Amino acid sequence: MTHLIKLLLAALVATSASFAYAASESNVRLMHAPVNRLDDESLQRGARNFVNYCLTCHSAKYMRYNRLTDLGLTDKQIADNLMFASDKIGQTMTVAMTEADGKAWFGNPPPDLSVESRIRGRDWLYSYLLGFYRDDKSATGWNNLVFPNVGMPNVLWELSGQDKLVETEYEDHEKAMGAAIAVKGLSALEPLPGAKVAVLHLEPGTPGAMTREQYEGFVTDLVNYLDYMAEPVRNHRIHLGLLVLLFLGVFFVFAYALKREYWKDLH
Ligand code: HEC
Repeated sequence: MTHLIKLLLAALVATSASFAYAASESNVRLMHAPVNRLDDESLQRGARNFVNYCLTCHSAKYMRYNRLTDLGLTDKQIADNLMFASDKIGQTMTVAMTEADGKAWFGNPPPDLSVESRIRGRDWLYSYLLGFYRDDKSATGWNNLVFPNVGMPNVLWELSGQDKLVETEYEDHEKAMGAAIAVKGLSALEPLPGAKVAVLHLEPGTPGAMTREQYEGFVTDLVNYLDYMAEPVRNHRIHLGLLVLLFLGVFFVFAYALKREYWKDLH
């Protein structure tokens, strides 16, 4: 009997673990993005990171610069720090590169990132930006554990440093899964010929200008901003919701006092 229970439990653990894998593409175990969309300072830093490092190739054509006043920035701060000279404050975040150029230069044009977070999700974006590694076989010299053979180079490599891919072979899926779960950070499974399975993960190679923690913080802010940009009004909804709850809390005290007052005479 206990044997049967053990077997059932093992099956349960195995299926739930494989569900975690099945939820993402290409057998990658995504990292959790520790973002907080109510943290205005993180969003401001994220907006700065975005315009400095991403807006050269990617547009955000549904996002207006002056919307950034939501994050506590003034029009002047936005104009001085986040905009290229020719842009007007009411304009959306567009780029000069045409889609045809993008396709010619990178194989695939860099897609608009306005609502990318709703398409891919926060954890995917966070893992993607931490998933670049050096690959001399690729045209850009880079590859990505989350998006294999991506056309985008690791544009943040001066900050992040250059990670390298480490591949370890295991004789079966179960052993590989155990090893992949034990990896701190990103890992992926890759079936090999026969029953063998390889576990892929990244290890630091040449260091960049930032420590690992600083770089993860940089990416967190950036993903936080991408997530905010995909639905800016959500922050208003959250604030409004909190206000309503606060009102109901205060109202309850008065309602309860009134009820006590009415019922006093009846008891
Ligand atoms: C040098 C140009 C360039 C820069 C700068 C750049 N990217 Fe990219 N990016 C690309 C290209 C090209 C692709 C398309 C790759 C493909 O489909 O193979 C891409 C794809 C992506 C994707 C995947 C889109 C999808 O869902 O298919 C994301 C997310 C992304 N970039 C985010 C960023 C972020 C965030 C930054 C800023 C840190 C950035 N990119 C900076 C060129 C660039």
